Amino acid sequence: RSAGEVRIVEVGPRDGLQNESSTIPLQTKIELIRRLAQTGVRNIEAGSFVAPKWVPQMANSSEVLNYLLGYPPAAPAPIAFNFLVPNLKGLQNFLKASGTDNAPITSSEGPNQTPTPPSSLNSSKSGDTGEQGPITSRKDKTKMSSDTSSKDNPTQPDGSSASSNSIEVSLFTAATETFSKANTNCTIAESLERCKPIVSLAKSQNIRVRGYVSVALGCPYEGPDVSPAKVAEMTATLLEMGADEVSVADTTGMGTAPKTQELLKALFGAGIAAKDLALHFHDTYGQALVNAVVGLEQGIRTFDSSVGGLGGCPYSKGATGNVATEDLLHCLHSLGATTGVDIEKMAEIGNWISKELGRPNDSRVGKAILAR
Ligand code: HMG
Ligand code: MG
Repeated sequence: RSAGEVRIVEVGPRDGLQNESSTIPLQTKIELIRRLAQTGVRNIEAGSFVAPKWVPQMANSSEVLNYLLGYPPAAPAPIAFNFLVPNLKGLQNFLKASGTDNAPITSSEGPNQTPTPPSSLNSSKSGDTGEQGPITSRKDKTKMSSDTSSKDNPTQPDGSSASSNSIEVSLFTAATETFSKANTNCTIAESLERCKPIVSLAKSQNIRVRGYVSVALGCPYEGPDVSPAKVAEMTATLLEMGADEVSVADTTGMGTAPKTQELLKALFGAGIAAKDLALHFHDTYGQALVNAVVGLEQGIRTFDSSVGGLGGCPYSKGATGNVATEDLLHCLHSLGATTGVDIEKMAEIGNWISKELGRPNDSRVGKAILAR
């Protein structure tokens, strides 16, 4: 049986870069997103409106968002750009950067200046299909960088173009108290309380909301035995609050095939539908692909991954990056899934960004493709 369409959420620019020790220039982040946009991937997690003293690498997420709105990257299909928000302050900063708080309109004429944010966000409510409403952007601000030619920024056969991109937010909570405290300085209950007004405010602006439940298959502080029932309960709570989907995250990479199976059983047993779930695997123990296949077999059709296997979580010591997008694509395509993502382009980007960051390319498939 064919796996059909599978949605990849490319989290490299956020999860991938947040843990890098040396400061990554804004231009490199933007270039990474611009290149990713050209691969056909429809979802890119582009930044994080968290406290800069906690995660300094994400401090310029306003500039990233502002840039994406002012200069939508050339892309073969509309893209949803996602930003993490940990609290109302984060959401307010996100809204300010996106121009929905009635920020004054200023003009900008070149790619090196901060572009004018549009005056409105997504104009239509998203459905379960993963389709998002358009971002309105100024016609004269459709180019992100001077090397973007009109050839790179085509209007699609269906009439869509980069101007129908959208922006989304992700909120996050965790399945163990110690991780919640370490990551967001609050208890699980407090974090769920924080989530409520974020969801309502985002929804009132027609912004799609993603939820994350961290440490679903193991916790750096409490060990590998995280309760699947607790993960299911938290996932259900986020969905009831109004989240459009929940990404269940193996932060530490401690997940195995049987544990993933058990977790999915608990999630489905709690009445949660596969279409409302995404799986987010870190590959610390090299089990991410196996776990993804278990998810696929159980009907999951959305997976998070990071180009070049970039990343790690600042609050999960020793955890390595997400499953590499190139590796996940190779695996999914071999099983007959369609992703719409160009694996060769992804492999080139993995190689490029690894060099930019001065780190080894962690995608085995990426390296194999480039060695051919
Ligand atoms: P806190 O220190 O408890 O917050 O942090 P606070 O309300 O007491 O405020 C302290 C200071 O932070 C104040 O500034 C606030 O204004 C400021 P001061 O008065 O000291 O100058 N502040 C903010 N500044 C900017 N943006 C904000 C913000 N909020 C407060 N949003 C907080 C609480 C949640 C903010 C903090 O703990 C935090 O930022 N945590 C985020 C940690 C993080 O980014 N972790 C990584 C992302 S999650 C992840 O990687 C997991 C995932 O990939 C899935 C998986 O693999 O598990 C998604
Ligand atoms: Mg993660």
